[in-house]
Amino acid sequence: MYYPEEIIEEVRMRNDIVDVISSYVKLTKRGSNYFGLCPFHNEKSPSFSVSPSKQMYYCFGCGAGGNVITFVMEYENYSFTEALKLLADRGGVKLPEEEDTREARDRDSLRQSLLEINKLAANYFYYQLKSPGGKAGYEYLRKRQLTDETIRRFGLGFAHKTSDDLYRYLRSKGYKDELLKETGLVTVEERGGRDKFWNRVMFPIMDVNNRVIGFGGRVMGDGTPKYLNSPETKIFDKGRNLYGLNYARTSREKYLLVCEGYMDVISMHQAGFTNAVASLGTALTSQHASLLKRYTDKVVLTYDSDAAGVKAALRAIPLLKEAGISARVLNMEPYKDPDEFVKNLGAEEFRKRIEEAKTSFFFETDQIRKNYDRNDPEQETGFQGELARKLLEFEEPMERDNYIQAAAREYFLRYEDLKRLVNSLGNRIGTGKQVAAREEGKERREKKKDKEDGIRRSQRLLLTWLIEEPALFDKIEGIITEDDFLEPLYHKAAKLVFEGHRAGNVNPAEILNHFINDDEEYREAAALFNASLEDSLDNEEQKKAFAETVYKVKKNSLDNLSRNATDISGLQKILEAQAALKKLHISLD
Ligand code: UTP
Ligand code: MN
Repeated sequence: MYYPEEIIEEVRMRNDIVDVISSYVKLTKRGSNYFGLCPFHNEKSPSFSVSPSKQMYYCFGCGAGGNVITFVMEYENYSFTEALKLLADRGGVKLPEEEDTREARDRDSLRQSLLEINKLAANYFYYQLKSPGGKAGYEYLRKRQLTDETIRRFGLGFAHKTSDDLYRYLRSKGYKDELLKETGLVTVEERGGRDKFWNRVMFPIMDVNNRVIGFGGRVMGDGTPKYLNSPETKIFDKGRNLYGLNYARTSREKYLLVCEGYMDVISMHQAGFTNAVASLGTALTSQHASLLKRYTDKVVLTYDSDAAGVKAALRAIPLLKEAGISARVLNMEPYKDPDEFVKNLGAEEFRKRIEEAKTSFFFETDQIRKNYDRNDPEQETGFQGELARKLLEFEEPMERDNYIQAAAREYFLRYEDLKRLVNSLGNRIGTGKQVAAREEGKERREKKKDKEDGIRRSQRLLLTWLIEEPALFDKIEGIITEDDFLEPLYHKAAKLVFEGHRAGNVNPAEILNHFINDDEEYREAAALFNASLEDSLDNEEQKKAFAETVYKVKKNSLDNLSRNATDISGLQKILEAQAALKKLHISLD
């Protein structure tokens, strides 16, 4: 569906950004802006700002920013159309009826079509499972002790041995090869279409809004790969979704269980643990951690009890911690995974194990312990050193002290000795956060340098300043136009900003509407319209910087022209302009 710009702008204007964001985030007024805890990353002190005058939000911590529409997209994990519908409803704007716009090529309708096709495919697989041809799949699931109710709830299905039946089915529904290729469900070659999944039981993967975004398929019996997953598509981002979260999000428990596999999640739910989720055939990422943080700050890791599971837990713990989630790790011994455990010992025993689950700290230090031989004094000293270093990661002195006491008990050390060791180490290297901050700061500075060569930065700065202080347009009159912004994104933004200025109204939140259809673009554009809050032009140094920036942008633009000049008279003009630029003096006073 393609909505006219005026409609989009009307929806935006009818939804005051402070009102809308207030219903998600607690905001407090400070000066002319509102501040709150950023919903897009974990933080303890508010760096998320909302500007009523600009109708934009921006987080100084993580760089998230945009207008009211992008906020709803980000927060609800909605597409543009979905966000627009929600806000139109809220603001009492009637959107034009959806016509059949199969040929509308914009990204949004592509997403919609992919969702539509996935839903059809899920229904198709489910239907196959329940029909005589799907007997093998159905029996397999029943043998794994899944009830009909569970099968229905998770929409489990079956993909036949026939290698192109889904493809033919989808074609019969009128979908073209071009589109079908984007689903990851089929491949289309010269010989025709082929299904990606065959002879597998199928696990549709749903996002938090119960929309099917991809599939996992398990081979029947032994075969490789055991699980085949949809590739990443325009709607399937493995790093940002968790299997089972659509149900787990409404569970009454205060914590979530994070396990390794689809089957684990399903048998956990069947056993009454409806708070179980799993990542999708990948390790847990920091994006998963932020996603979890939207629903809980407590996680119990129920990974497999083999070496791989331990490794996965050790990797997940710091990511969760970083997101503000405290983790405990459940001991599944003597069983391999939660699925086997509940089948053998039942839900009650599992609940006990949850209660006994070890705090992530001791899970980690137990693993470290295993690397050292207790009977060797040198190794024992090595362990104690590592333990002290880990204890230093606790920023809060009281919390650190609690852990020092607990660790002393756990590893039969004298509390005073351990405390002394931790303190002396702390004096030498600083606490965990200080060390981490030093390293992160360094890394960030290096990254920034790589990414932003000076000229990009100048173009961005200049544009931001113009947005922030329209009076500056007078200063650059006759020197700079939108065509001097060469970076494509900045050029597009500059064009809109200059047009706005000529019409007497520079409106960043409206301008942002033009970038919404591209995720990366709008993020960058949003940052562009907010960066100036950090760099305002209130002192001598900044004024000098402004003049220099104007000079750099113009020079770069002229240099570029002269490189591309095709005739002598054109070149002559450029050379003159270059010479004039050298003498230019831009005054801000
Ligand atoms: P497991 O091999 O532990 O699966 O992989 P499982 O739950 O025990 O499976 P069953 O009980 O034998 O059916 C855990 C998860 O790792 C991913 C899948 O997401 C799976 O659920 N995985 C595993 C793959 O993506 N590909 C594979 O080949 C194997
Ligand atoms: Mn298993």
